[in-house]
Amino acid sequence: MTFLEEWVRVCDDKSLGNGEMAGFDHGEKKIMVARAAGKVYATDRICTHAFADLANGIMNEEERTVTCPLHLSAFKLEDGVPQSPPAENPLRTYKVKIQDAGIYIDIG
Ligand code: FES
Repeated sequence: MTFLEEWVRVCDDKSLGNGEMAGFDHGEKKIMVARAAGKVYATDRICTHAFADLANGIMNEEERTVTCPLHLSAFKLEDGVPQSPPAENPLRTYKVKIQDAGIYIDIG
C-alpha cells in the first residue's frame, strides 16, 4: 500500500496565534488549523455529529481540545477523538509542518 503526501500551504505561520483557530477550504475539504500551547494541529472542521463548523467552537488550550458550538462535544486536536457525547466518531486529522514561514498540512 502506498501513501502519497500532498502538502498544502494554508496560511502564514504568524497569522495563527496561540489559542486561535482558523478554517480553510481546499476543494471539497473543510479544514481547521489550531495552535494550542505552541503546537499547530489540523483536523476536519465539520463536526462528526451534525453540521457545525468547529472553527467557530471553543478551544481549551490546556487540554488541547475544541468544543463544538452546537451540542458541545469536545474533540482532541491531536487525534480527533471525541471526549464527550453526543459525537461518537473522530474527526480526521492531518499532518502539519511549518516551512518557509507558512503552515502546511498533508491532505494526501
Ligand atoms: S453538531 Fe457537534 S456535537 Fe452536535
